[in-house]
Amino acid sequence: MGEIPSIGSRFWWVDLSMATPMTAKRAKAVRLLLLALSVASAVFLVTVGSVAQQPAFQPRLEEPEEYPDLPGREETFYFCVACHNFKLVAQQGMSRHRWDGTLNFMTERHGMPKLEGKERETILDYLEKAFPESEAPTGWQNPFLKR
Ligand code: HEC
Repeated sequence: MGEIPSIGSRFWWVDLSMATPMTAKRAKAVRLLLLALSVASAVFLVTVGSVAQQPAFQPRLEEPEEYPDLPGREETFYFCVACHNFKLVAQQGMSRHRWDGTLNFMTERHGMPKLEGKERETILDYLEKAFPESEAPTGWQNPFLKR
């Protein structure tokens, strides 16, 4: 008849200290730890949330000073930015004739107040000088011909 092995030897890997009831002091320490963890995670979530909410692109107001300093700059800038940013204008390069056509187009198509007389001249002078037609030739370029 073999001896029935005692529980203690069969489940030797069970750490009996785990089974002992928590002391009041220990329970309080655990509660504090859990509280600290939840506060920390709440702070973390709020921080992450506010960082994520920051827009990647922050619009800012344009200033006429950002554009070529030539006569008529302020007049042109403030006239055009009534409807759109000035970058839209500055990224173009046109001859006086084509700028003139653009002004007509703004009036006919987009309801821009009609520009006439001295004011039109001032604005055209500025547009032509500040954003002239690009000198780079367009169309196919022979890559072997050094310019
Ligand atoms: C009454 C409103 C208004 C005013 C004032 C105005 N525009 Fe515009 N403009 C528009 C609208 C609307 C568009 C089209 C916007 C778009 O394409 O996003 C436009 C587009 C443009 C474009 C781009 C056209 C293209 O083919 O992409 C140019 C260049 C332009 N405007 C020049 C001017 C200039 C120069 C002035 C000032 C002298 C001016 N605009 C004033 C309404 C206006």
